[in-house]
Amino acid sequence: MIKDEVRTPTAVRDAQRWTAHSYNPLPVVISSAEGAWVTDVDGRRYLDCLAGYSALNFGHRHPRLVEAAHAQLDRLTLTSRAFIHDQFADFCRELSQLCGKELVLPMNTGAEAVESGIKVARKWGYQVKGVAAEQANIVVAEGNFHGRTTTIISFSTDEDARADFGPYTPGFRLVAYGDLAALTAAIDENTVAVLLEPIQGEQGVIVPPAGYLPDVRRVCTDQNVLLIADEIQSGLGRTGTTFACEHEAVVPDMYLLGKALGGGIVPVSAVVADADVLGVLQPGQHGSTFGGNPLAAAVATEVVRLLATGEFQRRSAELGARLHAGLRALVGKGLLAVRGRGLWAGLDIDPALMTGRAASERLMSRGVLAKDTHGSTIRLAPPLVITEEEIDHAVAQLAAILTE
Ligand SMILES: Cc1ncc(COP(=O)(O)O)c(C=O)c1O
Repeated sequence: MIKDEVRTPTAVRDAQRWTAHSYNPLPVVISSAEGAWVTDVDGRRYLDCLAGYSALNFGHRHPRLVEAAHAQLDRLTLTSRAFIHDQFADFCRELSQLCGKELVLPMNTGAEAVESGIKVARKWGYQVKGVAAEQANIVVAEGNFHGRTTTIISFSTDEDARADFGPYTPGFRLVAYGDLAALTAAIDENTVAVLLEPIQGEQGVIVPPAGYLPDVRRVCTDQNVLLIADEIQSGLGRTGTTFACEHEAVVPDMYLLGKALGGGIVPVSAVVADADVLGVLQPGQHGSTFGGNPLAAAVATEVVRLLATGEFQRRSAELGARLHAGLRALVGKGLLAVRGRGLWAGLDIDPALMTGRAASERLMSRGVLAKDTHGSTIRLAPPLVITEEEIDHAVAQLAAILTE
């Protein structure tokens, strides 16, 4: 059990005092980290089972990523896209090849990748599909989480995310996640895209019914609608494959990537698609001062090279099986349900026992960091460098809080 706080209470109070309260963090103040472990200002160590919501898939400060960042910091950090830099082509080519696509549009945050994907889909609709001006619509799923911009929260079904931020951006149609008939019915001649998370992370790691994604793919192809996969949280090794879509052999028209693409060091996101889609953008029509900057490109290229080895996907699949076996054994013993793929799990704790927040706090007091999402659901997404023993340790701590 963790005790003897010296600096934590003051550090928590100061952080609260000087920030907008748009988060409710656990009262832990981290000052250093390595691999799957973080250390707080009082020297206590915690197993990080959240991994920056998948932004730290390769663990904290992976040596190859830190080395790439250091080397780039010493040479060139920013040019803007007014000029070309020497890290840019490798990054775009290697990421395109990892995705099996032709072009990359680099951005910074996940929400920017989603916004960019929406813009590209609309332009594609008008210029390629022939949709009437201003009439484009995009079909999205209830329970989605795609980011925090005004357009994106316009089609959120989470009242906390949405309320009082209107007026909202029109042009989105919500359908139940996993319901093919509803999705098919929502598509009309003005539909330019279906935008989905292949697994809904924020909603509690919701895996759609088997066959749903391939069916959506087929409907999109039949109706000349782009399938946009938001793999910002699910992609880049998290589920045991490079992309979550791969589990059902689905290839979207557009990948939206972020989080782990920046190696836990810098924000890097991207839209990746073929030239018949991304080629609709011409100079002056979209951009970002920091998108694809040299530091981001150097780190992200190394991320792509790590993924190209297949090692992390393999670890996620093998260790994920161990994690899920351990968690399944707790169903009926305080857990109501466990979902997920690879090293990614959503756990529904029996609400009669405790809230998800209380569970996160109890896990924290036992040296394991995780975070509740909705109600009594906890999300586990440890770094893919976690070991078997560390997984067993995390599961044991969870078992302990369910019975203490
Ligand atoms: C599926 C998905 N899309 C988009 C985003 C937004 O990413 P960012 O917070 O980097 O803007 C997130 C963040 O959690 C996400 O999980």
